[in-house]
Amino acid sequence: MPGTEETESDVLVPARLLPVAELHLHIEGTLQPELIFALAERNGLELPYSGLDELRERYEFTDLQSFLDLYYANMAVLRTEQDFADMTRAYLERAAAAGVRHAEIMMDPQAHLSRGVALETCVNGVASVLATSEQDFGVSTLLIAAFLRDLSEESALEVLDNLLAMGAPIAAIGLDSAEVGNPPAKFERLYAKAREAGLRLTAHAGEEGPASYIIEALDVLGVERIDHGIRCMDDPDLVERLVDGRIPLTVCPLSNVRLRAVDTLADHPLPAMLAAGLNVSVNSDDPAYFGGYVDDNFAQLEAVFALSEFDKARLAANSIHSSFASEERKAELLEELNGGEVPHP
Ligand code: HPA
Ligand code: ZN
Repeated sequence: MPGTEETESDVLVPARLLPVAELHLHIEGTLQPELIFALAERNGLELPYSGLDELRERYEFTDLQSFLDLYYANMAVLRTEQDFADMTRAYLERAAAAGVRHAEIMMDPQAHLSRGVALETCVNGVASVLATSEQDFGVSTLLIAAFLRDLSEESALEVLDNLLAMGAPIAAIGLDSAEVGNPPAKFERLYAKAREAGLRLTAHAGEEGPASYIIEALDVLGVERIDHGIRCMDDPDLVERLVDGRIPLTVCPLSNVRLRAVDTLADHPLPAMLAAGLNVSVNSDDPAYFGGYVDDNFAQLEAVFALSEFDKARLAANSIHSSFASEERKAELLEELNGGEVPHP
């Protein structure tokens, strides 16, 4: 720059973005306020907010339910396949910039069916973009059908039947929505059916609910992965079991702060979980609602905790090892991470 004596060492070099797999992401939770307004306008819908500022004022949560109320309300703008496709494309573009190289994307079909949106509309809208995500964004993807645990198991079974009957390209099922009072055991038959159909199994447990829900998800549902799982830290025997079994926990630090599962990021158990040898990864959950994508989660963790390069590489390696991607794809990503020489607890 003329008139300055800037040297090369003054130039800020952005920290290397580690290639990661995002394993805990609700596609409906990527709906940004701007897109909510754009889709409302395209679909001729009146929003109950005067503008972006008034909508943004609602992003102040006291617990999981207070978030879910807004999350479900904002989905009203998703009407057509194009809406679901546009939302998915926006996420993949941003995730790629965050270093995400593989994403396992949950969607909530029941939240759309209850609004009169057909299963084909939501599934095909998202799936049409996922089909070419690797070529278009450099992000391999797979789709997880998540079931709302505050609805009945009969409803979940019917939707799973319909997904299987239409040949929906789903790789796994998950369990989300209001946790406390809706224990995993309520969905024993759903998980048995999904397992029989050859699907992979994950479930939210131990976000607001107790450590015993994590045990139930493992023992009754037979899940391979636990979404959140932070409450395991209340039960040392469970921690030992999770460490021994290398069971993945898809942790979402900024989500936990915004939903008041922890008071502040400095109180988050992630460093203790790493120190205990748990197989944890860092994920964004609902990035449009919780203040950031995977890179933002890493940046804020780094600002609060002295995460070593080794810890960061371990978190990235855990995410890849814990994914439902093919062994070939995992090997490719591990090679990209560290020439294949990656730590794993
Ligand atoms: N927890 C439970 N259900 C959800 C979440 C979450 O963080 N996000 C979307 N549905
Ligand atoms: Zn979640």
